[in-house]
Amino acid sequence: MNHPAMQGLNLNTPSYVKHARLIAWVADMAALCKPDTIYWCDGSDAEYQRLCQQLVDAGTFKKLNEAKRPNSFLANSDPTDVARVEDRTFICSAKKEDAGPTNNWMAPAEMRATLQPLFDGCMKGRTMYVVPFSMGPLGSPIAHIGIELSDSPYVGVNMKIMTRMGRAVFDVLGDDGEFVPCVHSVGAPLAEGQKDVSWPCNKTKYIVHYPETREIWSYGSGYGGNALLGKKCFALRIASNMGRDEGWLAEHMLILGVTNPQGKKYHVAAAFPSACGKTNFSMLVPPAGFEGWKVTTIGDDIAWIKPAADGKLYAINPEAGYFGVAPGTNFHTNPNCMASLDRNVIFTNVALTDDGDVWWEGMEKDSGSLPAHLIDWQGKDWTPQIAKETGAKAAHPNARFTVAATNNPALDSAWDDPKGVAIDAFMFGGRRSTTVPLVTEARNWVEGVYAAATMGSETTAAATGQAGVVRRDPFAMLPFAGYNMADYFQHWLNVGKKLEASGAKLPKIFTANWFRKGEDGKFVWPGYGENMRVLKWMIDRIEGQGQGVDHFTGVSPRYEDINWTGLDFSAEQFKSVTSMDKSAWLKELELHAELFKQLENHLPKELEETKAAIEQRLAA
Ligand code: OXD
Ligand code: MN
Repeated sequence: MNHPAMQGLNLNTPSYVKHARLIAWVADMAALCKPDTIYWCDGSDAEYQRLCQQLVDAGTFKKLNEAKRPNSFLANSDPTDVARVEDRTFICSAKKEDAGPTNNWMAPAEMRATLQPLFDGCMKGRTMYVVPFSMGPLGSPIAHIGIELSDSPYVGVNMKIMTRMGRAVFDVLGDDGEFVPCVHSVGAPLAEGQKDVSWPCNKTKYIVHYPETREIWSYGSGYGGNALLGKKCFALRIASNMGRDEGWLAEHMLILGVTNPQGKKYHVAAAFPSACGKTNFSMLVPPAGFEGWKVTTIGDDIAWIKPAADGKLYAINPEAGYFGVAPGTNFHTNPNCMASLDRNVIFTNVALTDDGDVWWEGMEKDSGSLPAHLIDWQGKDWTPQIAKETGAKAAHPNARFTVAATNNPALDSAWDDPKGVAIDAFMFGGRRSTTVPLVTEARNWVEGVYAAATMGSETTAAATGQAGVVRRDPFAMLPFAGYNMADYFQHWLNVGKKLEASGAKLPKIFTANWFRKGEDGKFVWPGYGENMRVLKWMIDRIEGQGQGVDHFTGVSPRYEDINWTGLDFSAEQFKSVTSMDKSAWLKELELHAELFKQLENHLPKELEETKAAIEQRLAA
């Protein structure tokens, strides 16, 4: 082993770390990356404050006005490093077929040979932070552990908020526990005496996963899911592989609790593509007409779901914080989120107000007017006039907040329960301005898997910085399934079959679409809190009480099946968000066929059969 101690570098291993394999790996990685120093994060508040101050001193963070936004910071990224980079994301399974046609693939040996020279010396002039984290409550049977090595203190402080990060992880790991090794570098070594920039990154980027060895290697980006490796890389891409091998599910889903006025509580896990309002839905405030109802958040982005001995599926949120899209968030769209953001927040790429607070597009709905002057996310002057003339956004459309779940006033009391919560229903939703109705219940598990598998959505800024293109996004997992998508469909079918065979009552599966537009190009469904009306219909169906109408893809409510108290929404409007246009669906099925063609090598036959059944019903 090329031990860095031999090169005069001290590993600085704390005495409480007893895990020889882990220490040897850190030593190997240090020898490769050649940082100036190594620092093991303990996860303490004092450490968080120290690192934040260090980021302020380096110019990465701006401290916000303490009176307006206590203990909060703003970071502006490099303008070329603003979102996940799907075209630079690789699943390097031994066989290409195992990554499947929807993932970028490179043979592991070839990728290792590509990365080796990039990582060699990539941390020169920097500190390597050893970031121990648990995805899920420490010691939970559903949780798993990762160790991220990163040369970014921004990653360190974000991981403190987003995960259970720190010293206690080593108590769970002991001297031989399993962990997912995650190596991250911004790819910007500093030469002797070279001055750093405020957001170091590299135009070459690689986000690499080795599913067989459960490793993550990320190079060149400091932003979000590219750099906070517990999130998309571990909790979805690597964990989906673990789930397939071990019989559980790692999903791009929020988890919410909904309690009726009689005190009966249900749990729903819902998948929507990035930036389709998962955070809003998970923090929903029931509208007028739903007095006595309560919605509580377990998670806003990712769910790990394992079958338990009682035949139910139990879910945890593997994360401990929210890395949410700021633009569009306001007291109308998400009051609980706005309340969560009043202190202890890291903002990235939002605008700075003249009094040292933050601003993003959408906030004018609360204040009634645009601010007269801002510093935009790129550090430039912004005025309403400039915006009008140039279209310049004050905040980047994928600007984010990082905030602890414990800031959320609607946090579910079981959010941190190691055993998780029992799921009553799954929900899948895309952003579709036409074709797909407001809500549909699948008649059985296979029909539900079909609906989720064939889901399409108009893209948003989270992935590419470009919005508006429709793409198939099966299970909202297109960028996140860490293995062959068709095998992933099969895994869902297998989980259902296994539960059914044990006599368990399967969760119901619903699809939803909040985004139908009218002829005027405007959204028809009011969304946000009003989505409670759909949730209530789903619960009625779970209880076997709600009515609906059978159609070719499932069961949907009629106008009279929804509680409209407190909302002025006409039968005509309802028709325009629920109508099923035959010719549109014939076209839609052609798109399903395209997806199935792409996935034909491993496609489960049950899905072909379900498609044929829909076609028959359509023809009838
Ligand atoms: C996210 C995403 O950041 O899906 O959650 O892009
Ligand atoms: Mn997401």
